[in-house]
Amino acid sequence: MGRIRVRLKERSYDILTGSGVLGRSGAYLSSLNIGKDAYIITNSLLKIKYGDILAGSLSAKGFNVRFKTVPDSEKSKSLKTACPLLKNLAFFDKNRKVFIVAFGGGVIGDLAGFIAAVYKRGIPYIQVPTTLLAQVDASIGGKTALDLDAGKNLVGAFYQPKIVLSDTGLLKSLARRQISSGMAEVIKYAIIGESGLFTYLEKNRDAVFSFRPAALERIISSCAKIKAGIVERDEKETLGLRTVLNFGHTMGHAIESASAYRTYNHGEAVALGIITACDLSRRMGLIGDKLFLRIRNLISAYHLPVKLKGVSLHEVVKAHYHDKKFSGKENKLVLIRGLSRPVAAKNVPLALIKQSLSSIF
Ligand SMILES: NC(=O)c1ccc[n+]([C@@H]2O[C@H](COP(=O)([O-])OP(=O)(O)OC[C@H]3O[C@@H](n4cnc5c(N)ncnc54)[C@H](O)[C@@H]3O)[C@@H](O)[C@H]2O)c1
Ligand SMILES: [Zn+2]
Repeated sequence: MGRIRVRLKERSYDILTGSGVLGRSGAYLSSLNIGKDAYIITNSLLKIKYGDILAGSLSAKGFNVRFKTVPDSEKSKSLKTACPLLKNLAFFDKNRKVFIVAFGGGVIGDLAGFIAAVYKRGIPYIQVPTTLLAQVDASIGGKTALDLDAGKNLVGAFYQPKIVLSDTGLLKSLARRQISSGMAEVIKYAIIGESGLFTYLEKNRDAVFSFRPAALERIISSCAKIKAGIVERDEKETLGLRTVLNFGHTMGHAIESASAYRTYNHGEAVALGIITACDLSRRMGLIGDKLFLRIRNLISAYHLPVKLKGVSLHEVVKAHYHDKKFSGKENKLVLIRGLSRPVAAKNVPLALIKQSLSSIF
């Protein structure tokens, strides 16, 4: 089992990764002193598949358990879902010893983290991520969020969990498309944070897709370490350091939004965003053709798209102006000078951005 510490003074916590972590969750929580009543937010699929393991482990250590399921959709990251949840939570919270368990993918993690952040101005919560994307990214770092009609993640708070329990054994039931989606974030971490991970991914694709425990633990621990290191230095994104995590995301978000969140899931859009950012880096003379092609080949090897369909260049360009990283007409993009060498570039000429975007059509 892997253990990574996120060092944030009194808000520090561990990320535990490995097969079988879920079955030991009661023991891990016993030592945290976070309360006795576990309010588990999840969806019905996960409750049916793995709910008994979680509930059994918690009950065996004396925790009271209540499951609350929400629909399996991004739509659950909404005020419409959050308000009745809060009312129901208050009803359950009789003994004032309640804590939240976010048991699911990034949608559940963002929603449950938000509920924990605002109920009584903050109660303890733990992350039990069940998708690859949530294990390598969304469960770490304390960003919680709800969506509004006006845009994604517009309501939220920075609020750190007390522990992250990433059971790699749960990933076996994920659809292959979901594994690929998570791999887009893994590839992002390999490019910005660890060239050794990049080479590992080039050599171990089959091990990942056959859910070999050692391979999953290797990549999840590496990503967790990279993200933890960045979050420790810039917890609330005030110093500009956390911006590198946005690599591939400016164009990724534009692609998601231009295609109305239907054609591509988050990871697939990020994969296309990474190719665009690397193509821009190449056009600006920051990297050579060889590295660009290695990155593109890796993305393709993990069954992620390298060409954009069903949306026009004009629509993507229009959508990219709405990115949170824009102020006025000034843009800020994360590019690379090589593996493990991200750079923030300001005011990249629109003509170049268009050329790079054209290359994925
Ligand atoms: N807070 C952050 O830092 C952060 C970072 C990245 C993404 N996010 C957010 O995460 C969300 C996307 O997360 P996601 O990709 O995990 O999507 P998701 O939560 O919608 O999960 C994807 C699908 O996988 C299913 N699933 C989950 N675990 C499973 C398992 N073990 N076996 C079988 N099926 C399983 C879910 O029911 C769902 O249908 C977005 O809302 C995004 O904004 C947040
Ligand atoms: Zn992402």
